[in-house]
Amino acid sequence: MRVLVTGGAGYIGSHAVLALGEQGHGVLVFDNLSTGHRESVLHGDLVAGDLADQALVTRTLREFRPDAVMHFAAFIRVDESMHEPAKYFANNTANTLNLLRAMTEAGVTRFVFSSTAATYGTPEVPLITEDTPQQPINPYGMSKLLVERALRQMAELGAMRYVALRYFNVAGADPQGRIGQKYPEATHLITRALKTAKGEFPALSVFGTDYPTPDGTCVRDYIHVLDIAEAHVRALEWLEKEGRSDVFNLGYGRGYSVREVVERAKQVTGINFPVVETGRREGDPAALVASSSKARRVLGWTPRHDNLEFIIKTAWDWEKKLPPA
Ligand code: UFG
Repeated sequence: MRVLVTGGAGYIGSHAVLALGEQGHGVLVFDNLSTGHRESVLHGDLVAGDLADQALVTRTLREFRPDAVMHFAAFIRVDESMHEPAKYFANNTANTLNLLRAMTEAGVTRFVFSSTAATYGTPEVPLITEDTPQQPINPYGMSKLLVERALRQMAELGAMRYVALRYFNVAGADPQGRIGQKYPEATHLITRALKTAKGEFPALSVFGTDYPTPDGTCVRDYIHVLDIAEAHVRALEWLEKEGRSDVFNLGYGRGYSVREVVERAKQVTGINFPVVETGRREGDPAALVASSSKARRVLGWTPRHDNLEFIIKTAWDWEKKLPPA
């Protein structure tokens, strides 16, 4: 199939582009390179452009004539969204709706959407299923939920067929060391811990130790980026085959606390980096752990890297290759 991949020069998008290429699909990446990198696109061509440029989006769709669009391009920082909500609604919601309109005009009706566990808010359940009510507690989650709602109605009206993939905490890197996370500002726990181990930060902050969790720190379901990429290929093939739309959680169903991740990062790196316990970070839910049995059952997705040590190890191997910030 021919796939237009927005955000395909970014962290998760570039791993999906590689998986698509390895499985014989044609790719065109559309990315404004604000956080993505030209050299991370290892398959297909790149159009450097912004989704706010409606004319360029429409022209790109008309010329490339994709069978489907995978949409990764978005802002992803929960804490930033608390301070700059309009930035999140403009890019994550409005630009996505513009993309959907351009797709409709160009006759492209298959869409794979990067949604998020942040759409659930603070669910009081040990395992989140796709039917758990979505009540986001930050603008980041809401910016993605609004798109899911629009997609659902468009699908009901026959205007679009989509898969929304609700990612939990994505981490790790290509085990061959070709691509990985490369943001100017690292805020995610594993990346931040590894950069602290490298000496780029004086200490790692643990945000909050008074959550209602076993050790008081937040619990998350960390999933290797390769398994996320593979789920996108499965979703694409499912969309091609099936005449319907659906939503799927992507996680492993196992939560790790911030303290557990920090301990594992120290073991993997062999570096006892400094850690300080500070107050809570705004917008953080206590625990987010996925039930992903639906993706396994319906999409035939079989995660292969359910191993926190492997996640951290591949991220560390990548991190060591990056020049110091
Ligand atoms: N944390 C720290 N110190 C840090 C960084 C993070 O203690 O320096 C903590 C956070 O408070 C949180 C946990 O580690 O409890 C994970 O934080 P991340 O920033 O790594 O990830 P988030 O859970 O905030 O968000 C990520 C993605 C979202 C996605 C969400 C789903 O950025 O896109 O996972 O769970 F929606």
